Amino acid sequence: MKRIATTALMAAGLAFSAHAVLADGHGAALEKAIKARKSLMQVYSFNLSGLGAMAKGEAKYDAKLAASLAGSLSNAAQASIGAMWPPGSDSTAMAGKTRALVKAWETYPEVQTKHEALLSAAADLVKVAGNGAEGLGAAVGAVGKACGGCHKPFRAPKK
Ligand code: HEC
Repeated sequence: MKRIATTALMAAGLAFSAHAVLADGHGAALEKAIKARKSLMQVYSFNLSGLGAMAKGEAKYDAKLAASLAGSLSNAAQASIGAMWPPGSDSTAMAGKTRALVKAWETYPEVQTKHEALLSAAADLVKVAGNGAEGLGAAVGAVGKACGGCHKPFRAPKK
């Protein structure tokens, strides 16, 4: 009961402060954070699709390129920081600006666990990407699974 009351108060407080920050121009700061994390996701996607194409044989396997795409993906994942996910930058508070579900904040640190799963899958990918096309498919698949593992609970479907 106490927990429910606290949560309700927190929700009210958050709604109030979101309103206050929007009023004094910090809404722009929230939008910048949203833009940064979306851009980082696009980098993930660029790297992973290049590797996916090689794994599927749609593109010729190139060890050097594969290693650099995997390194870039892993570095990008390490560059994702909490500051890109400020409270109040969810799709309930900022409808139309973001697809990040408020559940990611409400259930924290679950989302962090999903992020760690990506870091680990990306590190495994880095180990094998330059060693031949054979091992690529499984490692790319594992990274893809880590992406989906976070999108499913924490990203709203595309409208
Ligand atoms: C820890 C959670 C998490 C992980 C891991 C994750 N994503 Fe995301 N992703 C999100 C959330 C949340 C959004 C919605 C962001 C927003 O709209 O503010 C998103 C959005 C995206 C978008 C849309 C970006 C845009 O321009 O709107 C792409 C593309 C994407 N992710 C690709 C990936 C790929 C590829 C991976 C794996 C390599 C990945 N994501 C891993 C949570 C995650």
